[in-house]
Amino acid sequence: MPRIDGATLTTHEHPAPAGFFMPHYTMRMQIGPYRIEPNVILAPMAGVTDKPFRQLCKRLGAGLAVSEMTTSDPRFWNTSKSRTRMDHDGEPAPISVQIAGTVPAIMADAARHNVDHGAQIIDINMGCPAKKVCNAWAGSALMRDEALVAAIVSAVVNAVDVPVTLKIRTGWNADHRNAPVIARIAEDCGVAALAVHGRTRDQQYTGTAEYDTIAVIKSMLKIPVLANGDIDSPQKAAEVLRHTGADAVMIGRAAQGRPWIFREISHYLATGELLPPPGLPEIRDILLGHLGALHAFYGEVSGVRIARKHLGWYAKDRPENAAFRAVVNAAETPERQLQLTSDYFDALIAGDSFAIAA
Ligand SMILES: Cc1cc2nc3c(=O)[nH]c(=O)nc-3n(C[C@H](O)[C@H](O)[C@H](O)COP(=O)(O)O)c2cc1C
Repeated sequence: MPRIDGATLTTHEHPAPAGFFMPHYTMRMQIGPYRIEPNVILAPMAGVTDKPFRQLCKRLGAGLAVSEMTTSDPRFWNTSKSRTRMDHDGEPAPISVQIAGTVPAIMADAARHNVDHGAQIIDINMGCPAKKVCNAWAGSALMRDEALVAAIVSAVVNAVDVPVTLKIRTGWNADHRNAPVIARIAEDCGVAALAVHGRTRDQQYTGTAEYDTIAVIKSMLKIPVLANGDIDSPQKAAEVLRHTGADAVMIGRAAQGRPWIFREISHYLATGELLPPPGLPEIRDILLGHLGALHAFYGEVSGVRIARKHLGWYAKDRPENAAFRAVVNAAETPERQLQLTSDYFDALIAGDSFAIAA
C-alpha cells in the first residue's frame, strides 16, 4: 500500500478495483496547540489575503489562512493599511499573522504587538521575492544571510508565547539552494512549522515550482512542512503530497477568484473523488457575500475599488469574461456593484449571457 510518512499524516487504502490502490489522505496537522484540519492552507498574499478573503476561504474549507504581511516597522503601524491588516476581529481561530523585516529586535517587538492585537500564530516572511519588502531587504532576500535568519527567528520565538512559523523559498538562486540549511536553523530555533515555496528568489514567479527540495527538507525535519507553489487542482495537491511527504499544501494564486478550491482539494484528498464545480447560483452567492464583506471592511470607496480586483479574478476563467469586466468597471457604488453583479449572474443563469453586457 502506498504510504506517506509524516508525523500526523496518514493514508488509507481506497476501495478500488483489485490490484489498483489509490491513496487518500486523512489530513490534520498540529501547529503548537492548534490542530489544523484540513491541511489545506491559504498562502499569505499581500493585497489579496485580507480579512474578508481569509474568512471566505476558511468558510469554504481552508484549515488555516495566513494574513497579508504586516510591516515590523512601528512607524507604519498607524497607517490605515496597517490598521486593516492588523484587524482580526471576528476571524475564526487560529489567527496567523505574517510579519516582515530585517532587524531581530524590531521583529520581536512586531511579533509582540501583533499578539497583543489578536495573532495566535506569528509567521515570518522569508518567501517574498520583491526587491524591497517594507523598505528593507526583507522577505526571501534574507535567506542569503543565514546568521541573520537565526537571529531573527530566535528573537521572534523568544518574544512571544504563541507558535512561530516561517515561510521560505528554496534558496537565492539555482546555485544557492540553501533552504535545507535554513530549515535546520528554523527547527533548531524553535519554529513550529515551515512553509516552503518550491522556487528560488531569482525565479520570482517564473518557471515551475520544484518539489524535490521540499521532499529533502521534509525528510530532515520533525516539525510539520507545508508544500507551496503552483498547486492549482486537487490532483496536483495529492501529487505534491505524495512526492514530498509534506504535512500540508499551501495554496496561493489558485485561490484568487476560486475560494472553493479548498473544499475541492480536501474532499479529493479524503475520498479520492472530485467534487462537481460550483454552479452559477452558488458562485453568485459567494461573490455577492464577498463583495458585501469588502464594502463593510474597507468602506464604500475603497471597498468598491478593491472588489474590482476580486471580480476580475472570479471572471478570469469564464468565457464571458469581457462582458463581466464591463460590469465590474461600470459600478461606482457598493449598491450598483452588487446590483450589476447580481443581474449579470441572474442573466447567465437564465441563459442570456449578453443581457447586461452593454
Ligand atoms: C499577489 C501576491 C502577493 C504575495 N504576497 C506574499 C506575502 O505577503 N508574503 C509571502 O510570504 N508570500 C507572498 N506571496 C507568495 C505566496 O504566498 C506563494 O508563496 C506564491 O504565490 C506561490 O504559491 P502559488 O503558486 O500557490 O501562488 C505573494 C504572492 C502573490 C501572487
